[in-house]
Amino acid sequence: MTSSGDESVGQLSRLDADSSIGRIVVSEPDLQARIAELGARITADYDGRPPLLVGVLKGAFMFMTDLSRWIQLPVEVEFMAVSSYGSATRTSGVVRIVKDLDVDLVDRHVLVVEDIVDSGLTLNYLQRYLLARQPASLEVCALLVKEGQQRTAVDLRYVGFTIPNEFVVGYGLDIDERFRNLSAIHAYAGSAGGS
Ligand code: IMP
Ligand code: MG
Repeated sequence: MTSSGDESVGQLSRLDADSSIGRIVVSEPDLQARIAELGARITADYDGRPPLLVGVLKGAFMFMTDLSRWIQLPVEVEFMAVSSYGSATRTSGVVRIVKDLDVDLVDRHVLVVEDIVDSGLTLNYLQRYLLARQPASLEVCALLVKEGQQRTAVDLRYVGFTIPNEFVVGYGLDIDERFRNLSAIHAYAGSAGGS
């Protein structure tokens, strides 16, 4: 929702010229419209049992911010940080908890807010890790899911968009820590190493 209505990265004109930022995969207006819908569904589904939103850093930071504003319930907000070992564009499935939750999950309705599900290995690990803490319920809201790429079962209650199997950046997602601040989801058009 820019005031200009520009679908691109208008406020970041120097990034505009970066040839490694490819075409728009999900535009800013489409993102915002879908996130409003997800927020409305979550509001209805969790009526009477406000969820604890657990954002997975760093990728979910923007999604979490926008989504939480569309949930008309007294939610609580927490963050975890995980890093999965692997190359710049492929996870190995070996996940390290970089920042853990410091709240008790027992009897809480936990809703994990994740940026993107590719192989599903990161989320599968997180789900098992969090379930061991005995929440009353555990669901996942993922902004993006890569079509046909999941190598493990992941139970996704809410999904924003299913996208083709290509590496994307923007709206929280990075390559080597860059491009998280783009307002739309773009295909990454650079070399795999990120430079
Ligand atoms: P998975 O374990 O293969 O499902 O990968 C999940 C994590 O890898 C996500 O939380 C992202 O941090 C990262 N990731 C996967 N695909 C992309 C992408 O296309 N762009 C940026 N990060 C990605
Ligand atoms: Mg990442």
